[in-house]
Amino acid sequence: MDSELSQAADLIFKSSRTTAFTGAGISVESGIPPFRGDNGLWSKYDPGFLDIDFFYQQPQKSWKIIKEIFYDFFSKAEPNDAHRGLVILQKNNLLTTIITQNIDYLHQKAGSEEVYEFHGNSQFLICTNCHQKYSSENIKLDNLPPVCNECKGILKPDFIFFGEPIPQKPYRQSYYEAQNSDLFILIGTTGEVMPACMFPYMAKQQGAKIIEINTNPSHYTDGITDIFLQGKASEKMNDLINCLNIK
Ligand code: APR
Repeated sequence: MDSELSQAADLIFKSSRTTAFTGAGISVESGIPPFRGDNGLWSKYDPGFLDIDFFYQQPQKSWKIIKEIFYDFFSKAEPNDAHRGLVILQKNNLLTTIITQNIDYLHQKAGSEEVYEFHGNSQFLICTNCHQKYSSENIKLDNLPPVCNECKGILKPDFIFFGEPIPQKPYRQSYYEAQNSDLFILIGTTGEVMPACMFPYMAKQQGAKIIEINTNPSHYTDGITDIFLQGKASEKMNDLINCLNIK
């Protein structure tokens, strides 16, 4: 068995508080493209459509792209073995918290608990006028932008647009985990986007070990990563679960 894998399994087994920090790469094998790198969304779409000022100025244009990417696509996606591997770790008390940058809700669909969505999620729409919340499953997106049943205000996905503040609860939890976890497992993230990307650095600074799973090196790999398991998230998570002999 490769030594990195057994070292990683040993760290997980011995850790008293482990946090998983996930990015778009963990959902690629569920059919959801990443934002950057091969087949990245930002190579096809201008990220500007997710800028909050653009959304308020041109809601119909912004919603057209939002629907195409996040609703026509995401709603059919199912968790993969990487999401399921984190559920198994949690069930065996080998993982405490998941901090995800993803808005696809796949961790929760897989059955994970203690999931903190740093950028919100696409499951809910919120009225920009009266703040009434709707499940995205109950709102037809035939006419864009969708409007509130109560006040006819424009509905916005409940995820964070560029230029919006990070929700307090996931921010506080991420800060807590960065200060108190002795192991961070980074899965499928470039480590490019602030302020989410700073938490692995904060964890490292207080002495946490860093395991990283990624198909390619990231901003973390040569700097703070202690064990780099290069490969697809589902394959590496399956290897770890087998090495730990848990289910
Ligand atoms: N298994 C593991 N890692 C993978 C896989 C895979 N099958 N496929 C791609 N990756 C890796 C890529 O190598 C890359 O490092 O996943 C990462 C995807 O990077 P990004 O698309 O930049 O995703 P992320 O780091 O989550 O982006 C952070 O940027 O645009 C914003 O809000 C958006 O939350 C997102 C944030």
